[in-house]
Amino acid sequence: MYNLKNKVAIVTGSGRHKGIGEAIVLKLAAEGCSIVISDIGQAKGTEFAAEHIGATDEMNEIAENCRTLGVEVITVACDVRVEADCENLIAQTVNRFGRLDILVNNAGVGYIMEPFTEFKESSWDAVLGVNLKGAFLCSKHAAIQMQKQATGGSIINIASQAAKTGFPFAAAYTASKHGLVGLTRSNAVELGKYKIRVNAVCPNHITTGLGHWQNKFFSDKLGLSYDDYLQAIVDKNPLGRTGQAEDIAKAVAFLSSDEAAYITGEAMNVSGGEEYH
Ligand SMILES: NC(=O)c1ccc[n+]([C@@H]2O[C@H](COP(=O)([O-])OP(=O)(O)OC[C@H]3O[C@@H](n4cnc5c(N)ncnc54)[C@H](O)[C@@H]3O)[C@@H](O)[C@H]2O)c1
Repeated sequence: MYNLKNKVAIVTGSGRHKGIGEAIVLKLAAEGCSIVISDIGQAKGTEFAAEHIGATDEMNEIAENCRTLGVEVITVACDVRVEADCENLIAQTVNRFGRLDILVNNAGVGYIMEPFTEFKESSWDAVLGVNLKGAFLCSKHAAIQMQKQATGGSIINIASQAAKTGFPFAAAYTASKHGLVGLTRSNAVELGKYKIRVNAVCPNHITTGLGHWQNKFFSDKLGLSYDDYLQAIVDKNPLGRTGQAEDIAKAVAFLSSDEAAYITGEAMNVSGGEEYH
C-alpha cells in the first residue's frame, strides 16, 4: 500500500513479542522494507530485568517471522543509552544494506512508576536514559548517515498520550515523552533542509507486555479488578476500544512513506479520539 520497497528501516526495542515494535517491523516488512530489528538483547541490572525486555532469542524469532514476508532482515543488539551501541547499530545497517531510510525510536521503559516524593534518582535516569537520551543518540547517528546519502529520510519517535497529558506516579515517563515531542520538533526544523522528516506518534493504551504491567499497576492503585479497569478505559474512548499495536504500525508506515512527504514536526495522536490536542 505504501510501497516501501528498496527502503531500509531500523526499529529500536522491536525484539519483544506482542510489542508495538514487533507490529511495526511486521508492517514495514509487509510493505517491502528491509528490516533491522534491534533491542537490548539481555537483562541489565534491576531496572532492565528479563521480564521487561526483548531478549536475543525473541529478537531472532521475530526476525524469522519478518523473513516469511519475503524481505531481508538482520538483528542488532543495542542498548540505546550507550552512544557506541547506537553508532554500531547504524554502521551494521549500512554494512549490510548500504543505506538507511527510516529510523523508528520505539525502545521505551514505562514500568518504573513511583510516587513523586519517593521517586529515585536511579529510576529517573533509567527512564530518561532510554526514552529520551536513547532517541537522541539513535537520531543523531541516523541523521549523520541520512545526510551523507543526501536522499532524505524519515525518523519517527514513538511518544505517548503521556507526551500530551500528565499521569500519576509517572513523572519520569511523562517528562521523557513530553521531551521526545520537543526533540521531534527541534530535529524537524533543523533537518528539514536535508529532506529528513521527523515526526512522533502518540499511542494511548495498548495491552503489550508493558501495557499488561500498567493495567495491573493502575487497577491495583484504583482498587479495581483488571477487567473493570480495562472496561473503564474502553468506556471513555470515543471509538469504544483500546488501541492495538497494529494501529500504531499503520501510522508509522504512513509517516515512513512518500504519502507523508509534506509532514514533519507532527506529534500524531493514535488514540481512538481519547487524546486530541
Ligand atoms: N503499550 C502502551 O500502552 C504504550 C502507550 C504509549 C506509548 N508506548 C510506547 O511504545 C513503545 C513500545 O512499548 P511497548 O508497549 O511495545 O512495550 P514493550 O515493553 O513491549 O517494548 C519496549 C521495548 O524497549 C526495549 N528496551 C528497553 N530498554 C532498552 C534499552 N536500554 N535499549 C534498547 N531497547 C530497550 C525492551 O527490551 C522492549 O523490547 C515505548 O516507547 C512505549 O513508551 C506504549
